[in-house]
Amino acid sequence: MQRTKVKDLLSGAAAGQDVLLKGWVRTKRGNKYVNFIAVNDGSTINNIQVVADANNFSEEQLKDVTTGAAVSISGELIASQGKGQAFEVQAKTIEVLGKADPETYPLQKKAHSLEFLREIAHLRFRTNTFGAVFRVRNTLAFAVHKFFNEKGFVYMHTPIITASDAEGAGEMFRVTTLDPVNPPRTENGEVNYEEDFFGKATNLTVSGQLEGELAAMAFSDIYTFGPTFRAENSNTTRHLAEFWMIEPEMAFYDLKMNADLAEEFIKYIIRYALENNREDIEFLGQRLTEEDKAKPQNERQEMTLLEKLEFVVNNDFERVTYTEAIDILLNSNHYKKKKFQYEVSWGIDLQSEHERYLVEKHFKKPVIVTDYPKDIKAFYMRLNDDGKTVAAMDILAPGIGEIVGGSQREERIDILVERMKGVGIHEEDLWWYLDTRRFGGCPHAGFGLGFERMVQFVTGMGNIRDVIPFPRTPQNAEF
Ligand code: 4AD
Ligand code: MG
Repeated sequence: MQRTKVKDLLSGAAAGQDVLLKGWVRTKRGNKYVNFIAVNDGSTINNIQVVADANNFSEEQLKDVTTGAAVSISGELIASQGKGQAFEVQAKTIEVLGKADPETYPLQKKAHSLEFLREIAHLRFRTNTFGAVFRVRNTLAFAVHKFFNEKGFVYMHTPIITASDAEGAGEMFRVTTLDPVNPPRTENGEVNYEEDFFGKATNLTVSGQLEGELAAMAFSDIYTFGPTFRAENSNTTRHLAEFWMIEPEMAFYDLKMNADLAEEFIKYIIRYALENNREDIEFLGQRLTEEDKAKPQNERQEMTLLEKLEFVVNNDFERVTYTEAIDILLNSNHYKKKKFQYEVSWGIDLQSEHERYLVEKHFKKPVIVTDYPKDIKAFYMRLNDDGKTVAAMDILAPGIGEIVGGSQREERIDILVERMKGVGIHEEDLWWYLDTRRFGGCPHAGFGLGFERMVQFVTGMGNIRDVIPFPRTPQNAEF
């Protein structure tokens, strides 16, 4: 007999028929006449209830059917008499494929803290919360490809190993096969990377953008979707050392078109998750509502998770320039009452407290901030006519802060070279990047969406470590 997934069993399509199901036991309860076994196989947040009559199954036969055990069960799918489920399986055979000793299996029926579950990340997939989170993550990833495919974008696989630092922030993980204890050295004592595997110093990429731009100069519209690595020592709920980023790059786009695309894209993937993972999102929303009850009134969310997501897909994002954003901050009561920890003045890099004020207190919706001072942004961003700002855009989301960073790119080679010099990037190192400005260069733009921050936004999970299966953060690379 072919196995039917729990999600399909629960649809009732096979009612009245014999079915085969496999999965993991969530709970078993019962009395001397009957046992109820809840089984989940990850296809849905819901369990299928299996009814095992004491007439058909001895205590001995069911003793290994414990929380966490893998089971294979056959029986008839019938309409359920009990409340809580429409269909259940009347068991005919029960086979335990893999036992889970109740004395040592860490996931018992009681609710576990997210911190504890992080320590057993290899098992946390089996909880309702993480089942929901990773099904939503999967749907969002699929929606990313669907969105760009429908628009005729070409999916580009840009390299993971590179010799460049796209963001110029110097936060890179070195890739080398040299002996760390005794590396070959040049005459003046520096490590000689000419003898390294690639004949030069290389690192894990911080962004696929530079290579993405090369491809956009041929395919017009491309996107990357891959892992990126940053060795920034930020132990926050928003930073990972290894995270996934989606980076579209479009020829013939200016900043406004770039922002329009980003807004359409974000709404599309949220809507797709709402349509395809409604139950998971509802469950995660209830989780947050419960969590909120423990908080003082003024710290509680104004909207439920579902309301927030519906609101975001149905309303325009706010758009302001950096200069306007600074004015809003300077004129706020929050500022006047000296409630910001960091200073506010034109030229500062917005701190997360500033971003959160704009998004959560002032506008109460996602905000696209454009035209930042050139000195706080990457060298490749297009210089505006004022000579002070660049055609940059960050999208800030409630509860998250920066979720997208992007810009129109500097296509004028003389200005680009000037800016590279300013930040100490050698022309020779990026000769290939500059070539696209020499040969058929054109106005173009793109952005990067941090995938985990997006998953956080849709699932409402407060810590980024809980939306990637195995987080990489400072001092932590377990599993
Ligand atoms: O703003 P960033 O650094 O922009 C770039 O990398 C550009 N090359 C993108 C482009 O224009 N093609 O990063 C983009 C996004 C951020 O807005 C944030 O959502 C996410 O990537 N991000 C991180 N997410 C998790 N952990 C980190 N350490 C992150 N750093 C950036
Ligand atoms: Mg950024």
